[in-house]
Amino acid sequence: MRLSRYFLPVLKETPSEAQIVSHRYMLRAGMIKQASAGIYSWLPMGFKVLRKLENIVHEEQMRAGHIPMLMPTMQSADLWRESGRYDGYGEEMLRVQDRHGRDMLFSPTAEEMFTDVFRSHVKSYKDLPLTLYQIQWKFRDEIRPRFGVMRGREFYMKDGYNFDLTKEDALHAYNRHLVSYLRTYERMGLQAIPMRADSGPIGGDYTHEFLVLAETGESEVFYDSEITELKFGDREIDFDNVAQCQAVMDEFTSRYARTDETHDKALFDQVPEDRRRVARGIEVGQIFYFGTQYSDALGATVQTPEGGSVPVHMGSHGIGVSRLLGAIIEASHDEKGIIWPEGVTPFHCGIVNLKQGDEAADGACDALYKSLVALGLEPLYDDRKERAGGKFATMDLIGLPWRITVGPRGLKNGVVELTCRRTGESEELPPEQAVEKIAKIYAGL
Ligand SMILES: Nc1ncnc2c1ncn2[C@@H]1O[C@H](COP(=O)(O)OP(=O)(O)O)[C@@H](O)[C@H]1O
Ligand SMILES: [Mg+2]
Repeated sequence: MRLSRYFLPVLKETPSEAQIVSHRYMLRAGMIKQASAGIYSWLPMGFKVLRKLENIVHEEQMRAGHIPMLMPTMQSADLWRESGRYDGYGEEMLRVQDRHGRDMLFSPTAEEMFTDVFRSHVKSYKDLPLTLYQIQWKFRDEIRPRFGVMRGREFYMKDGYNFDLTKEDALHAYNRHLVSYLRTYERMGLQAIPMRADSGPIGGDYTHEFLVLAETGESEVFYDSEITELKFGDREIDFDNVAQCQAVMDEFTSRYARTDETHDKALFDQVPEDRRRVARGIEVGQIFYFGTQYSDALGATVQTPEGGSVPVHMGSHGIGVSRLLGAIIEASHDEKGIIWPEGVTPFHCGIVNLKQGDEAADGACDALYKSLVALGLEPLYDDRKERAGGKFATMDLIGLPWRITVGPRGLKNGVVELTCRRTGESEELPPEQAVEKIAKIYAGL
C-alpha cells in the first residue's frame, strides 16, 4: 500500500474524550471513529488489525477441532423465553419489535441459538463430541460504555459452544479451549493469564477468565508471580489427547490467580509473600462449563449407547476480538504511539522515502516495495511529499514493527536504514539485506 493512496486519517490533536492510551492511539492512528456511544466505525487500518486477530482466532479454533459457522445478530425473543433468560437478562439486552409487533433482540451471546441448532439436527451420541463456534457482532447495552473498543456496546466476539455426552467429555472440551486460547493470545504477542472467575448469570461451577495485565484494566487481580513465567510456546499438542490437555490445564491453573470476584484472602496468604502480586487486568476471554442447564431448558438430548435419552453437557467459550485491539495496545506502546507485535501488525513494515521526487530514492523505494510484495509481505510505503519528521511521527504512531528509511545520502553508499520500532535501534545495510532480514522475521508467523 502506498500511503498517498490509502485512507489513514491520522489526528494531530489528542482527542479529549479518550481516557486511556489504547483509545487515544486508536483514534489518533485513524483506526476507529465513534458512531455513537460505545459503537464504532472501523476505519481501514483498524479493520485490518481486526481481521488479523479474527484470522488467528479461526486458525486456532479449527486447529483444536472446533467448527466455524454464523448465527444471526437479530434473534426472536421466543427462544430466550424458552431458556428463561428473556426476562432475566435485564437492560443490557437491546429489545426491539418488528413491524408485526413480534419481540426481537440483538444477540448479546448465543447459547440459546446454538442449542436450538443442535437440538434440531443432532439426535445421537454418535455425533458427539461437537464444538461449534462463530465470530459475530454482539450488542450489550452497557450502562457506561467507555475506553473505546474495550467496553463497547457493539463488539466483536468469538463464542463457541461444546456439546458432549458426559461431564467428563465436556471437561475435556473445557481444557481444549484453555489450550487453544493460550496459543491464540501468545500468537497475538500477549500474555493472558487464566484466572478462577465467577460464573455470573451464565451459571456453572467451572469458569476461567483470561486476563492481560495492564494498569488500566477494569478487574483487580491477585496472583502468584510464578504464573507469569509460564509460556505455552511452540509445543506440539494433540487436542484429542485428554491427558495432554489436562496436563496443560493443571500447569497453567495450579498457582494462585484470581479476580476480585473470587479472591480468597486465606488462600492467597499461603503464597510466599515475595511472590504475591496485586494488580489490574483486562479480561480478553472466558471459558465455562455449565452442564445441562441449557440442554435441560431447551430439550437438547441425544440417544445414549444403551438406548436411553440424556441432555447433553455443554459449555461456552468467548474471546473479545474487538477488545483485544485495545488490550494489545495497552500492553504494547510507548509515548510515541503503538508498537504492534509482529503477529498482528496491519503492515509488515514501513518504507519512508526521505526525498520524494529524487530519482534514486524513488527508484530504490519502488524496488524495495516490489521485493517485499514478491515475498508475500505487505509494506506501507510513505510516498507523500512531506517532511521526514512528519513521516517518522506517523510511522511511530501507527506502530509498524519495522521501518526502512531510504534517502539519497545512504543510497550513495549503497545502504538504507532498518529501524526496529520496539527498541528504536537502527542499522545501515544494503536494501536486499534489509528485505531478507524482514522476511526472516516474519517467516513462520
Ligand atoms: N462490552 C464489551 N465490549 C467489548 N468486549 C466485551 C464486552 N463484553 C464482553 N466482552 C468480551 O467478550 C468476552 C466474552 O464475554 P463474556 O465473558 O460473556 O463477558 P462478561 O464477562 O463481560 O459478561 C469477554 O471476555 C470480553 O473480552
Ligand atoms: Mg466474562
